[in-house]
Amino acid sequence: MQKTGGAMGLDGKVAIVTGAAQGIGHAVAWELALAGAAVTMADIEAELGAAVATAIRANGHRAIFLETDLADPSQIERMVAMTVAEFGRLDILVNNAAIVGRTGTVAEETVERWDQGLAVNVRAVALGMKLAVPEMQKAGGGAIVNISSVHGFLASERHVVYDTCKHAVLGLTRQSALDLGPDNIRVNAICPGFIVSNRREQDAFGSDEQAELNEAIYPLRRVGRPHDIAAAVRYLVSKDAAFVTGVALPVDGGMSVQLVDSVTHNIQAVIRKDEPAGPPNTPPLREYP
Ligand SMILES: NC(=O)c1ccc[n+]([C@@H]2O[C@H](COP(=O)([O-])OP(=O)(O)OC[C@H]3O[C@@H](n4cnc5c(N)ncnc54)[C@H](O)[C@@H]3O)[C@@H](O)[C@H]2O)c1
Repeated sequence: MQKTGGAMGLDGKVAIVTGAAQGIGHAVAWELALAGAAVTMADIEAELGAAVATAIRANGHRAIFLETDLADPSQIERMVAMTVAEFGRLDILVNNAAIVGRTGTVAEETVERWDQGLAVNVRAVALGMKLAVPEMQKAGGGAIVNISSVHGFLASERHVVYDTCKHAVLGLTRQSALDLGPDNIRVNAICPGFIVSNRREQDAFGSDEQAELNEAIYPLRRVGRPHDIAAAVRYLVSKDAAFVTGVALPVDGGMSVQLVDSVTHNIQAVIRKDEPAGPPNTPPLREYP
């Protein structure tokens, strides 16, 4: 695949991407590798993750896969230590992995689901940062990107664990941007809208009506793709973002700036089968192998 470079080039940089076996993390790992970084990919999905790292290496870039359960603090330690042992430094951490989804209301949630959600979606993000910081200090600075969600600043029914965790990730990001700024370590978050990776294609486009409804919800008239997030990560970890820290960047096709009235109007038009306002926009897609 063609290398991405220029001002956003990452030659000589070393990155860790969690949850990199599939979905958004897979795209981020590819994007950073194409920009010149050496990438450690961490995930519990060992077979998938190893195959992605092999494909990145086969394209002439540097990547290793580490089977890692982020719920286990000792495995986060190992992830950082092995990255430094393999590549000699650490400049970039992308905390992307999460347990995703709708499970229940606060009255229904179990202690187990709270513990699991908080351990992977919040504690692992904080521990990854804690262990990365000394390495970034040695490197003279660094960039951390935490993948939150539009659920980090809006709420959705029966998502109490997920929504709470994604709000916490934004708090952690903003707070740490203050504490780590003097060390030239930038901490930013991305808040994706609905991002359709290959394996979620069926959820998004299972029927024509489903596809039309998805487009109706987004001012840009399309859902997001993993590359949309990967490109935003590449910007945030690049020199071009050298004065950007503490932000929570929505990458959501404009979804979260709308009044509910506006969304309702568009959904009703789909249900009434009005003429569409125009063809759906096609994304500026970069496809990763
Ligand atoms: N896809 C979306 O629509 C969307 C929207 C908003 C935010 N996000 C956020 O983006 C990130 C990636 O989401 P995705 O849609 O690509 O999800 P995904 O489920 O496709 O990928 C998540 C990855 O994290 C890994 N993971 C889960 N638990 C782990 C653990 N304990 N240890 C190590 N790895 C673990 C999974 O194995 C998986 O490979 C998540 O933080 C999610 O909350 C996604």
